[in-house]
Amino acid sequence: MNGAHTNILREHDRDSGILTLTFNRPDKLNALNVATLLELGAAIAEATADGSVRAILLTGSGQKAFMAGADIGEFMAVGAAGAREFAERGQHTLALIENCVKPVIAAVNGFALGGGCEVAMACHIRVASENARFGQPEVNLGIIPGYGGTQRLAQLVGKGKALELILTGDQLSASDALRLGLVNHVVAQDELLAFCRRLIQRITNKAPIAVGQSIKAVNAYYSNAAFAKEVNAFTHCCETEDFAEGVRAFLEKRPPVFTGH
Ligand code: COA
Repeated sequence: MNGAHTNILREHDRDSGILTLTFNRPDKLNALNVATLLELGAAIAEATADGSVRAILLTGSGQKAFMAGADIGEFMAVGAAGAREFAERGQHTLALIENCVKPVIAAVNGFALGGGCEVAMACHIRVASENARFGQPEVNLGIIPGYGGTQRLAQLVGKGKALELILTGDQLSASDALRLGLVNHVVAQDELLAFCRRLIQRITNKAPIAVGQSIKAVNAYYSNAAFAKEVNAFTHCCETEDFAEGVRAFLEKRPPVFTGH
């Protein structure tokens, strides 16, 4: 499964069975464009079906970002008309991660914002480097998390803190993310991948069927209809003038001026 992929590098270590997927748009802080999302979904589906893959490790290229969110440069083209499809496609891909019966670990090596935080939260375990920063800054663009973030953030840190983070768009340091339970461990950046691989090997030494059934059983508690409601709410926001203003302001590198319309 090794090979050249445009947006995601794939490295399959056949001895350990670990497939490492590295988001590879460092000049855009690994922002999640549609092409990357489709590539991610395909990689997870292939890895799930491939008996030689025992576990999946997700990380970002460069020292600065795991993934700085959905690609805001594409938002103009998505517009109100494409918003529902945009959110549903993202939710579908992240559900593939969450429901994968092989452990999927996020090695969060820097910013995990917006869709990046949502990708990390869909993974079964998160390990952060000391410089990692987490957040759901969508409110700054006049929208809300649309890839399951409203649900998974509340599951991980509780409703009160999730609402505060989503309503303010504030970022969390790695140590605060650890304190809140958003991440499982924080380690030095140059230790991150080795730490994750050791953790994965402790899991892949166990019985694969028990591992997969554990993931299914834990996930069963959290399946709910609220993800569809998030899609509706996201779509509604994308129909507003404030969304257009929020995106324009980001691209023009200025603060947005919201009017409530
Ligand atoms: N979509 C598209 N491009 C993005 C991006 C995103 N989500 N996040 C960063 N980039 C791009 C920047 O536009 C910039 O591109 P340029 O060099 O062509 O201008 C490049 O990545 C580097 O980012 P920059 O903003 O210069 O880095 P910084 O260190 O000053 O700030 C962040 C880092 C993460 C705080 C800032 O990039 C940011 O706020 N990104 C958007 C985060 C966000 O709102 N995500 C949720 C989207 S729903």
